[in-house]
Amino acid sequence: MARILITSALPYINGVKHLGNLAGSMLPADVYARAMRLLGHEVLYICATDEHGTPAELAAQEAGISVAEYCETMHVAQKEAGAQFKLSYDYFGRSSAPSNHALTQHFANVLEANDLIEERSSKQVYSNADDRFLPDRYVEGTCPNCEFEKARGDQCDNCGKLLDPVDLVNPYSSVSGSHDVEVRETNHLYLKQSVMSDKLRAWVDEAKDWPVLASSIAYKWLDEGLRDRAITRDLKWGIPVTGADGKPRAGFETKVFYVWFDAPIAYMAATQDWAEETGGDWERWWRTDKGAADGESVQFMGKDNVAFHTLSFPTTILGSGEPWKLVDELKAFNWVTWYGGKFSTSQKRGVFMNQALDIAPSDYWRWHLMANAPESDDAAFTWEEFQTGVNSDLANVLGNFVNRITKYTASKFDGKVPSGGEFGESEAWILQELQTRIPALIEYYNGREFRKAMAETRAIWAAGNEYLTQAAPWTHYKTDVDQAAVGVRVGLNLVALFGIIAQPIIPDAAAKILEAVDVPAGNRTWNFGDYTGIHDLLDALPHGLEIGAPDVLFAKIEDSDVEDWTGRFGGEK
Ligand code: 2FM
Ligand code: ZN
Repeated sequence: MARILITSALPYINGVKHLGNLAGSMLPADVYARAMRLLGHEVLYICATDEHGTPAELAAQEAGISVAEYCETMHVAQKEAGAQFKLSYDYFGRSSAPSNHALTQHFANVLEANDLIEERSSKQVYSNADDRFLPDRYVEGTCPNCEFEKARGDQCDNCGKLLDPVDLVNPYSSVSGSHDVEVRETNHLYLKQSVMSDKLRAWVDEAKDWPVLASSIAYKWLDEGLRDRAITRDLKWGIPVTGADGKPRAGFETKVFYVWFDAPIAYMAATQDWAEETGGDWERWWRTDKGAADGESVQFMGKDNVAFHTLSFPTTILGSGEPWKLVDELKAFNWVTWYGGKFSTSQKRGVFMNQALDIAPSDYWRWHLMANAPESDDAAFTWEEFQTGVNSDLANVLGNFVNRITKYTASKFDGKVPSGGEFGESEAWILQELQTRIPALIEYYNGREFRKAMAETRAIWAAGNEYLTQAAPWTHYKTDVDQAAVGVRVGLNLVALFGIIAQPIIPDAAAKILEAVDVPAGNRTWNFGDYTGIHDLLDALPHGLEIGAPDVLFAKIEDSDVEDWTGRFGGEK
C-alpha cells in the first residue's frame, strides 16, 4: 500500500470555472484519487482557492464589495461547485488562510537567509490619476509582440506571451482608464532562480515519470536561461512582507507577496489546515524527515502552470534547504477548447461549472471530459460529440446492459440471482477478457493515462454485451432454464463488476448500480487479487439474493437538446 498525496492546481478565486478548467486539473485528480483509494492506497487529495493577486482585487472591485468579502463568497461557491461535480477533496482550503501567511513568510525569510532573495530596485508603472503603482493586470496596453490593443500587464491574451507591465506600448490604468501613467523606480524582493538552474535541471533530469508535456516546458525555460523574478507586488490584498523578526519589512508596508509565490505554498498550508481540522498529521505528507520520503506526490495542472511547478516552486523548496517533499509525478494537460476556440462568458461561448449541471448530470460531464481528456493535444468540446459519447457509451453500452439483465431477472427469475447450470464456453471467453482487461485498466490508472483507462472501461462494458449475445439466456430459457440461469447469473455479476470499475468516473451511476445488485460497501474495492480471483467475480453474488432493477440510468441526449444548448451556449450551426 502506497501513500499518495494528490493536489490539483488551485483555482483562481475570480469567478466560477469553466469545463476546461475542470477537465485540466480538478476532475482528473479526483478520478485518480478515487481509483487509488479503491486500490487500497492511503490517499490525501488537497485543493484550495487561489485568492491573491490582481484578478481577485479587480473582480471584487467590479462586484463592488471588499476583497475579503468577495473571496469568502467565491470560496463557498467554488467549494459547492466542486461538491456538485463530486470532487472528493479530502480538504478544500484557502490560500488566504493564516497558515499560508505564516508559511509563506517563513519561506521568504529562510530563502533570504540562504541568499536566494534579494531586494532590488525595479521599474514599475505608476498611475498619477490613481496615485498608485499598477502591477500585472492593473495595467493594460498594446502587446509589444502582436500589437493586440488590450493586452494585460502580465500576459497577452491574444498571443499568450508573458509580459512585464513596463513592456506594454501605450499603457493605461485598468482601474481608472487613465493614460496618465509613468514608469517609476521602487524596490521589490527578487527570487534568485538563476542560481538554482543547475540544481533544477538535475532534478528535472531525474523525473522519469513526467509526461513529455511537463518536462519539455521545464527544459524550454531552463534552456532559455532562468531569470530572477520579483516575488512582491504593490497591492493591498495578499500576504504582507515581514522581516525575520515577524514585523512589517521597512519599505514594504504597501506591498504583498506575489500570488505565484504564495499559491503553491498553499498546498502545504492547506494540508496543515486539514490536519488541524481532522487531527491528521500533515508532516507525514510534506516533510521528508517525518515520513513523506516514503510517500508519492502527484500534482495535476494545465500546461500554463507547469513552469511555476517545475521551476519557481521547486526553487522555493530546494532553496529553503529544509526537508520539504518535492513533486514526484506531475501530470500536465493541454486545453479543452470550445469548438477549437476559447471559452468566454461575455461572448456566451462555453459552459461554466455552475451552468453545466442544469444541462446534464455530473456523471455525463465526468465521463465525456475524461474520455476526451486533453492529454496529448488540445481537445475540442462539441455538443455533437458530447451527445454521441453519452448516448453510445453510457446509455447504450452500460445503461442498456444493466437494464436488460436486471429487468429480465425481475420478470423471469423472481428478481433473484438464480442458481443452477454449469459454466461453459461463453463464460470461459468473458473470464479471459476480464483477466486481460482488468490488469490493463489498473495499469492505465497507475500510469495516469486517462484516455486509455476510459477506453478500457468502455471495452469491458462492451465485452459484457458481447457475452450476453453469446450466452443468450432469453433463447435458452424456452428449452433449458438452468442454461439460462447461468447467463443471467453471470450477467448480474458483470453488472456488479461494471459498477465497481465505474466508480472513479461516474460515482453516482455506479452507486445506483451497486445498490441495485446489493453489493455491500466492503466488496466495492478494487481488491482483485492476482486476477485468478476474477473467476469468483462471475459468481460472487449470493444465489437467491434479491436484486432491484434501477430506473433508466442514463437518459439519451436528443437532437433537440443539442439544438437548444447550441443556441444558449454557442457551438457551430
Ligand atoms: O492557473 C491558475 O488557475 C492558478 N490559480 C493555479 C495555481 S496552482 C498553485 F500553485 F497554486
Ligand atoms: Zn500579444
